[in-house]
Amino acid sequence: MRLSDKIALVTGGSRGIGFATAKILSENGATVIITAKNHERLEKAVLEIPNLTGIAADIRNKDNVKNVINKIIEKFGKLDILVNNAGVFPTIKQLHEIDEDEWNEVLDVNLTGQFRFTKEAIPYLQKTSGTIINISSDAGIKAYQGFNADAYSASKAALIILTKCWALEYAKDKIRVNCICPGVVDTDMTKPFLKTQKDIEFMNNEHPIGRIGQPDEIGKAVLYFASEDASWITGAILTVDGGESIK
Ligand SMILES: NC(=O)c1ccc[n+]([C@@H]2O[C@H](COP(=O)([O-])OP(=O)(O)OC[C@H]3O[C@@H](n4cnc5c(N)ncnc54)[C@H](O)[C@@H]3O)[C@@H](O)[C@H]2O)c1
Repeated sequence: MRLSDKIALVTGGSRGIGFATAKILSENGATVIITAKNHERLEKAVLEIPNLTGIAADIRNKDNVKNVINKIIEKFGKLDILVNNAGVFPTIKQLHEIDEDEWNEVLDVNLTGQFRFTKEAIPYLQKTSGTIINISSDAGIKAYQGFNADAYSASKAALIILTKCWALEYAKDKIRVNCICPGVVDTDMTKPFLKTQKDIEFMNNEHPIGRIGQPDEIGKAVLYFASEDASWITGAILTVDGGESIK
């Protein structure tokens, strides 16, 4: 199996892309731990995948984050793979309508949250020459007319440059850091934009391949970066988006 003996942490693993990723990593031999804010959803997810461990944590709270890493080390003794996936999408508003608290909330989860987990995980990834996969977005690469989620775009663009900074900084420890930029994927996050047949057709047409993505199509890219198949790849930014970003 491609990930035998590997210990993997997927943040925001209770649903959507994180859940699909946890399932794929687990099917490929990894011992997988997921975190999420919502206890009920976390417990439900744990029941759906054999040998999955769930640890509730709010990514906005540094003590919660520390506790997750400590518990993993206590129980499993090491950490090999960190998937920085947890994220939120804001209410659509133009920049001049955004309240500063709304701006800060998105950055706290999508950017500072990834900093918190990475900071706590690095000392253990140094010991295993582990790997980090950041889940950014096409919204971090280009601007979309009428998208109006500036804090989200800013947080995702920041994660792209942080991927390169961390890859460069920790290459000496043989830690590989890579990044995936999904297009629109069918999850709870995008449900509000896919309410009618007209919405669905519009979103499908935004992607040259002719459809939006499924969560496991992102999970498979995570598996690639996490595995030895990507042993010489670090600092890479991979779009997994049905061609959305090339238009
Ligand atoms: N769905 C898409 O179209 C799409 C496109 C590009 C990028 N992404 C990114 O992929 C990632 C996963 O998105 P998704 O569509 O699966 O979203 P989702 O809303 O289905 O799941 C988000 C996950 O993040 C967790 N989370 C949110 N706030 C948290 C907090 N404060 N503390 C801890 N966990 C928290 C949730 O518990 C959940 O498990 C996100 O980073 C998102 O920005 C999604």
